[in-house]
Amino acid sequence: MLGEANHKIFSDLIKGSSKEELIWMNEYITKLLPAQNTPSIAVANSAVNKITIVYGTETGNSKRLATDFASKAKQKSIHAKVIGMDQYRLSDLTKEEYLLALISTHGEGEPPIAAKKFYDHIHQNGFKLNSLKYSVLALGDTSYPLYCKTGEEMDEQFEKLGGVRIAPMQKCDVEYEEDANAWFNEVMEKLSSPKIGVSQNDVLVNVAPITSKKSGKQTYTGDVLTKINLNDRGSSKETWHIEIAAEGVEYLCGDSIGIVPENPSKIVDAILNVTGVDPSKIVNFKNEAFTFYDLLKHKINIFYLTERLVKQYAEITQHEIPIVRMNLLDLLKIYPVKDAVQFEEIVLKMNAISPRLYTIASSPTAHEEEVHIVVVKDTFELNGETEFGLCSDYLSKILEEGKQKFFVQPNKRFRLPAPDKNIIMVGPGTGIAAFRSFLAERDATGATGKNWLFFGGQKFANDFLYQTEIQNWYETGVLTKVNLAFSRDQKEKLYVQHKMLQNSAEIYDWLLNGAYFFVCGTKDPMSVDVENTLLKIIEQQGNKTSEEAKKFLEQMEEEGRYEKDVY
Ligand SMILES: Cc1cc2nc3c(=O)[nH]c(=O)nc-3n(C[C@H](O)[C@H](O)[C@H](O)COP(=O)(O)OP(=O)(O)OC[C@H]3O[C@@H](n4cnc5c(N)ncnc54)[C@H](O)[C@@H]3O)c2cc1C
Ligand SMILES: Cc1cc2nc3c(=O)[nH]c(=O)nc-3n(C[C@H](O)[C@H](O)[C@H](O)COP(=O)(O)O)c2cc1C
Repeated sequence: MLGEANHKIFSDLIKGSSKEELIWMNEYITKLLPAQNTPSIAVANSAVNKITIVYGTETGNSKRLATDFASKAKQKSIHAKVIGMDQYRLSDLTKEEYLLALISTHGEGEPPIAAKKFYDHIHQNGFKLNSLKYSVLALGDTSYPLYCKTGEEMDEQFEKLGGVRIAPMQKCDVEYEEDANAWFNEVMEKLSSPKIGVSQNDVLVNVAPITSKKSGKQTYTGDVLTKINLNDRGSSKETWHIEIAAEGVEYLCGDSIGIVPENPSKIVDAILNVTGVDPSKIVNFKNEAFTFYDLLKHKINIFYLTERLVKQYAEITQHEIPIVRMNLLDLLKIYPVKDAVQFEEIVLKMNAISPRLYTIASSPTAHEEEVHIVVVKDTFELNGETEFGLCSDYLSKILEEGKQKFFVQPNKRFRLPAPDKNIIMVGPGTGIAAFRSFLAERDATGATGKNWLFFGGQKFANDFLYQTEIQNWYETGVLTKVNLAFSRDQKEKLYVQHKMLQNSAEIYDWLLNGAYFFVCGTKDPMSVDVENTLLKIIEQQGNKTSEEAKKFLEQMEEEGRYEKDVY
């Protein structure tokens, strides 16, 4: 019992407190007397029975997790609405109470394309999310210099807008399952505790983001054995087959390797020239010491700077610069720095060069201690000039017998099935990489499953990559069927999806009999067209509605029988 004076203070306090404050007090008192059976202050705490899970994804990991978490929430009688950030009605955000955001980082520390609108929306201030309780699961990859950047930014931004964290943000590396599940379990626990989202101060205790265990990717220094241009003279493409030997290298068919390119010496020299910095001066960049030359040559990205960096450049140099992506050298030429000291300030804010991934085209059984890749030289127009992508250009110039560093990037969602299963492979252009790996492996291991390849390019005469190997595999029966589509050999454009349509009945028959369907290569438009064609085939051949065809393909995806390695 309280004495009279304390009773008055207590009743005044209760009368003047909001529901949230009362619940906070209840919790506070409970914590003061942990060992005793403290009676609760009688404030009803409605259990959370509805949450929203939004995901922003590029390659499907965040979506898969979101769907999985929704069904786990359902088992706990919590209804979870799952929605992609591209589909989310932005005006609903102010009404959200419990929001879980699953978001990956792509490009150079940027949101996935499908999440860009959502990301931009929350970064425009001018509105508040006062009823929001949230938690962010940030997917990323520690090989990238801006690890989980978008997740970090979303987490901070929700807080700035008035949201209260249910649980701290969790960053996840490539092997994300364990950390993601631990995060979701913590969120579920918090949602079932009466403390949830009630008091800002209370909930914000201990919100330092949790970082995942690093995947600890091993870097190999390999010897470049071979570098061959697979396109014949007259082709509009340059596609390089590169073989790298590396002792002890371990990978599985379907994996990629990651390579960090170097900046071209000509551009590095030009930057040194216009800025007047001493190339041998030692500078500290992200806790590592470099000479200025090495920093520019090997470490920092000097091309197509992000808008954020261009903005910082403008602020430091006090120039009025339109905020669009630009190369560092162009910025320096048009909007010069005051002196070498100012340039150093800018450089230290820049991002490291991101690794580029290349699907492995060799087989661990057939090509022991080697990785092979197929790299097409990326070409684009800039100010009326033809320019080349940094890494593909760099790889097109590496020397046979030189050294090349790389790491292996596993891809658990693109795996050869059991040796007796039939597979259909669609891989035009560099998409052939994964299937050269699959076929070499199946050949070397004597797998009994049937193999059907759809391949294509612009012209048969110039662009039939690995023609002799493919013909050999066909002659020896490793390849059961091959369909080729060369788009520019006739008046009408002909692509792999047209060849698929011509073989609709047989494809559907293979699928009904348990075949696995793989697609590798360009994401858009190739993999989109292939998927639409596959749906059409299922719909027409199976006498299904478009909804039923979609379900059929989703079911295949769930069974791991429809897999994509697209970029
Ligand atoms: C899982 C995976 C597997 C892959 N497998 C393969 C493979 O087997 N073979 C293969 O060839 N590729 C593969 N890729 C693609 C590869 O990783 C690279 O993206 C590709 O080689 C282009 O990189 P780059 O450095 O040459 O071009 P970047 O320099 O990164 O340029 C890419 C694009 O950015 C734009 N850009 C760049 N600089 C500028 C600028 N200054 N101004 C305006 N626009 C600009 C252009 O549109 C350009 O085309 C794969 C990708 C992934 C994710
Ligand atoms: C081209 C490319 C660029 C990437 N850039 C980054 C990055 O800058 N930072 C990061 O942490 N992860 C980066 N990643 C890794 C992805 O975030 C990671 O693979 C994640 O699991 C993808 O999730 P999603 O499938 O939901 O998009 C990149 C991946 C690719 C393929």
